[in-house]
Amino acid sequence: MPKSFIFATNNPNKLEEVRHISNNKFEIFGISDFGITEELPETQNTLEGNALQKARYLYEKTGKNCFADDTGLEVEALKGAPGVLSARYAGDEKLSINNIKKLLQELENCSNRSAQFRTVIALILEGKEYFFEGIIQGKIINELKGDKGFGYDPVFIPLGLEETFAELPAEVKNMISHRAQAFEKLFYFLRHYKLDF
Ligand code: IMP
Repeated sequence: MPKSFIFATNNPNKLEEVRHISNNKFEIFGISDFGITEELPETQNTLEGNALQKARYLYEKTGKNCFADDTGLEVEALKGAPGVLSARYAGDEKLSINNIKKLLQELENCSNRSAQFRTVIALILEGKEYFFEGIIQGKIINELKGDKGFGYDPVFIPLGLEETFAELPAEVKNMISHRAQAFEKLFYFLRHYKLDF
């Protein structure tokens, strides 16, 4: 079982979250551990495209097994927007509060509030490419509630619950989230890789 991976992030919180999901069964490095300080390229127009672009960039630079993720909020009434543009929906400053304002404006007078967060992970393992996906469905509410989390959390209520992601304890969000589901699938795959042979 391959043990050691580079995760396409420089964000210590993301690294910690992903190491936690892996039960610390794998050695997961950030890109700065390999001297990579530049922003990884993300110029594709799908989550799959961006995740793969970042993973390929890392693989070409290091030759090591690696994975990259990309996440978007997909709103049904907006035909999947903001999607791959979630971080910079209201502009390149990537301000969550402005993104939320724009989203609520777009949904004004709209009764269909269905939305989902979707995370895609691209893995490059021994030169082969694999994808994993995690989805959490829910709805967008009209006002901001809660002060935890980040991004669109204050306006997103997961299906079956009554609190927004920003009101739920971090441990709860981190158990059910789109990202957690995608990474659970990745680590399940890695734990079983080549065991059947
Ligand atoms: P990234 O691919 O993880 O960088 O996510 C892209 C953008 O999607 C972020 O900048 C946020 O706006 C949004 N996003 C991703 N994950 C979450 C989440 O768990 N809650 C709220 N917003 C999120």
